[in-house]
Amino acid sequence: MAGPAIDVSLRRAAPDDLDFIMAAERQPAFERQVGRWSAERHQAAMASADFAYLIGMGPGGLPAGFAILRDLNNASDNIGLQRIVSAAAGQGFGKPFLTAVIDWVFAETRCHRFLLEVFTDNPRARHVYRSLGFVEEGLLREAVKRADGARADQMLMSLLRREWRAP
Ligand SMILES: CC(C)(COP(=O)(O)OP(=O)(O)OC[C@H]1O[C@@H](n2cnc3c(N)ncnc32)[C@H](O)[C@@H]1OP(=O)(O)O)[C@@H](O)C(=O)NCCC(=O)NCCS
Repeated sequence: MAGPAIDVSLRRAAPDDLDFIMAAERQPAFERQVGRWSAERHQAAMASADFAYLIGMGPGGLPAGFAILRDLNNASDNIGLQRIVSAAAGQGFGKPFLTAVIDWVFAETRCHRFLLEVFTDNPRARHVYRSLGFVEEGLLREAVKRADGARADQMLMSLLRREWRAP
């Protein structure tokens, strides 16, 4: 969508943010696009040094999205985007939010390769990733079994440190 860029600030999530996170990932429209974890699984990940939970604060200083990063201590400095959700998708928040997440990853960690997997039938997310510089690396064929038992393909994508903020 066109329009003025939205200002996004990031903060680390706190346990109190779990209600927002779990409601956002459980939106019916996102069912085939992102995973949903139980409160126990989120709590364990939040408490682990291998994960980072970031909240994107949008207009009015309210939470408008979240991102979960994994493998923060990966020996090869490959950090994964486990999940990103924009609570009100398609309204211009996700691109500045992911831009802020990318900046956080490369500024705050030793990350060399920031990687993610996206379902091939999620064209909006694929567009957002491509437009922010992620490169498609390969198809993960029938990689995920969905709740209905059907298998879905994912695309592996990554952004390297040297590509961060590259013109
Ligand atoms: C992916 C996600 C985080 C992006 O955030 P967002 O707030 O929707 O993103 P924005 O509104 O800033 O930008 C959306 C972009 O996708 C484009 N877009 C929308 N629908 C599209 C479609 N069907 N195909 C291709 N592009 C599409 C928009 O035109 C816009 O691009 P532009 O700014 O270059 O014109 C958000 O859509 C989301 O949470 N989706 C559900 C969960 C999900 O899919 N997470 C990612 C899993 S890998």
